[in-house]
Amino acid sequence: MDRADSRDFLIRAAEPDDAPAISALLGRDGTFEGTLQMPDMPVVSRIEFLQRVDPHSCRLVAISGGEVVGMAGLHTQQPSLRRSHVRGLGIAIAPEWQGRGAGRQLMNRLLDWADQWAGVLRVELWVHVDNERAIALYRSLGFLEEGRHKAYALKNGRYVDSISMARLHPNPPRMED
Ligand SMILES: CC(C)(COP(=O)(O)OP(=O)(O)OC[C@H]1O[C@@H](n2cnc3c(N)ncnc32)[C@H](O)[C@@H]1OP(=O)(O)O)[C@@H](O)C(=O)NCCC(=O)NCCS
Repeated sequence: MDRADSRDFLIRAAEPDDAPAISALLGRDGTFEGTLQMPDMPVVSRIEFLQRVDPHSCRLVAISGGEVVGMAGLHTQQPSLRRSHVRGLGIAIAPEWQGRGAGRQLMNRLLDWADQWAGVLRVELWVHVDNERAIALYRSLGFLEEGRHKAYALKNGRYVDSISMARLHPNPPRMED
């Protein structure tokens, strides 16, 4: 399959009206398995969370032909002031769009938001050990493995290990002289 580029889709902030389409994407076969989402959940089960607007979070969508083909977000982890420099990452691409560069472009946009605008020092995530594409993408963007978590999640009838990864800001902002 040809590699897509940014002319094939638009990346923009997710709006509350996008919530049903994002929820449907998160529940699709070929997408939910790599996350902690469940199969056969109603679209409405994720709507409330996806409609919430948090100024400390960034949620992006990739749009092609008017359809949501990918989403990615950075979210505050806990309501703790002492972790206000940390965001957790989530990302999901529609099966027919995987391996075509949408994930990388969404990640680049999120990391620009985090590095240049939001004062984020640490971005962290958990990924199933068998998710080779996701791990390759994260490594290439400077995420380092921090630990392996045995039987972290149930996946299609077996317990799979998970890897925790994090990326620290490569060049944290300083005051001008
Ligand atoms: C994991 C996921 C987000 C990656 O996004 P994507 O758009 O498919 O990935 P990209 O096309 O941007 O490729 C990213 C990199 O992965 C690598 N890659 C692609 N396919 C790969 C494969 N099968 N195995 C190993 N590496 C692979 C390539 O090196 C590519 O880097 P490049 O830009 O230098 O070529 C996406 O496949 C997805 O949503 N999967 C289902 C949900 C999921 O697993 N989410 C992550 C939860 S932690």
